[in-house]
Amino acid sequence: VPSSNIRNFCIIAHIDHGKSTLADKLLQMTGTVETREMKEQFLDNMDLERERGITIKLQAARMRYVHNNEPYCLNLIDTPGHVDFSYEVSRSLAACEGALLVVDASQGVEAQTLANVYLALENNLEIIPVLNKIDLPGAEPERVCREIEEVVGLDCSDAIYCSAKEGIGITEILSAIVQKVPPPPDTAERPLRALIFDSYYDAYRGVIVYFRLIDGCIKRGDRILFMASGKDYYADEVGFLSPNQLQVDRLNAGEVGYLSASIRSVADARVGDTITHYSRKAEESLPGYKEVTPMVFCGLFPVDADQFHELRDALEKLQLNDSALKRPQVPWDLDLDVVSLVFFIWKLFRKGWNVECSNPSLLPEAGNRRLIEEPYVKIEMLTPKDYIGALMELAQDRRGEFKEIKFITEIRASLLYELPLAEMVGDFFDQLKSRSKGYASMEYSFIGYRESDLIKLDIQINGEPVEPLSTIVHKDKAYAVGRALTQKLKELIPRQMFKVPIQACIGAKVIASEALSAIRKDVLAKCYGGDITRKKKLLRKQAEGKKRMKAIGKVDVPQEAFMAVLKLE
Ligand code: GTP
Repeated sequence: VPSSNIRNFCIIAHIDHGKSTLADKLLQMTGTVETREMKEQFLDNMDLERERGITIKLQAARMRYVHNNEPYCLNLIDTPGHVDFSYEVSRSLAACEGALLVVDASQGVEAQTLANVYLALENNLEIIPVLNKIDLPGAEPERVCREIEEVVGLDCSDAIYCSAKEGIGITEILSAIVQKVPPPPDTAERPLRALIFDSYYDAYRGVIVYFRLIDGCIKRGDRILFMASGKDYYADEVGFLSPNQLQVDRLNAGEVGYLSASIRSVADARVGDTITHYSRKAEESLPGYKEVTPMVFCGLFPVDADQFHELRDALEKLQLNDSALKRPQVPWDLDLDVVSLVFFIWKLFRKGWNVECSNPSLLPEAGNRRLIEEPYVKIEMLTPKDYIGALMELAQDRRGEFKEIKFITEIRASLLYELPLAEMVGDFFDQLKSRSKGYASMEYSFIGYRESDLIKLDIQINGEPVEPLSTIVHKDKAYAVGRALTQKLKELIPRQMFKVPIQACIGAKVIASEALSAIRKDVLAKCYGGDITRKKKLLRKQAEGKKRMKAIGKVDVPQEAFMAVLKLE
């Protein structure tokens, strides 16, 4: 079809508001997939997901739709649903001219939806409001329409009422896409520029890149250049998704497709990068590319030292698939039986130098530095008014700085806070959900580094410092964290044959201390004489238990103890 008959759109929706159900219905109604096929398709994807260990679902699909006897080509581009992927969402939106804003008519607008709608408006997308789940007895589409008008400022007089589940309103949605979403401009004569909005690693074909052609055209066999990474390849295969990959010889401006070019790592073809031709280069790359800068660090160690190579191989594979994953050198002994510790990148400033530090054990003593800065985020929480108090308490507990409260309707409010990333990464989201009985939602974005009064808290077990248990905490929280950590460790470390002191220290000063009293745990005590195989079994079990322990001096510390530092409340 000519570019004037192409429509590129995405679906913006909060989790559970029905995005997948609606996408499935659109595919079925346009005959893109048969209902029968649908089931198999879903199962196929599940297998793939399992294999790749991550959610893939549908990334894009081309549908054919006839409107007033004219054939149209509708491209649905998926947007990731998780709050941590706002950059990826912004690139998917940049690949579209329109968006369906799907809101559950029995619920209302949620924080994430709101953030994504603003992104869509920034990208000048035509937004079509869709009120889903009108079959539910509790559906109040008029109320939710008013909410969208008030909160988003979007005219809802033409909003479509639909039930993705029952297939109501689907034709109206397809017609609205044709009539309201603008066609892509016809720029096929310009030098190639294609925006990458997704990619994944395929073990046989290398990286598969999903893109939207903004300008020019691309043919099988073309030598292409990724403008940000500077890498060039020959496109072995180009095609479109329907939703399975179907090869074609050529794709033109306005179309959405995929390519494979024996690309070895997703880092060569990142989301947001621009594809151009090697010989006829575009003058400028497409706007909006962002280099991902890691801020959360994680120390990973196998429980069993023999599995170190397997762990390293697994991480290498993961890195091929996720360009946000970096693997810096690990400064510790590799045989530590720790599972996972999360750190942040702190910035340290001293006269004449400033450094970034991503590991508490590398933090210089207080006397040797001038100041520390830590990453901060801005968060917006949307909540029914009954939970405002509980959420404000949560944010305050996490060193949150109150910024603003707005009532978006009589019964729902938006709370704005700024707080350290370190306070948000752990269980903040879980706490938000549990303290609001699941009704609140949130959105966050990085706002920069700020000076903080941070100190290093060390743990000593039986007088031996345990580096992996060192944490960086705010000065005001040091005593509470020290106390909680020593108590937790006391619960988790089995008693030994001698007394074991457990201490939390700042520098040389002990700020909290507990002690494990001595005991001898005799696993054979319950077997009076007799059965030798049973005795052997018990001893073997004990030996296996020991393997999961790390000897700190003379004390065996179980793996769970290393996790304690992450789970303090
Ligand atoms: P995630 O995949 O978690 O992002 O959710 P989603 O937004 O894709 O929602 P999904 O399509 O999985 O639907 C969530 C739940 O709502 C499912 O149990 C659906 O069966 C149900 N649902 C979707 N549309 C409708 C509808 O129109 N009416 C009713 N009653 N239920 C619906």
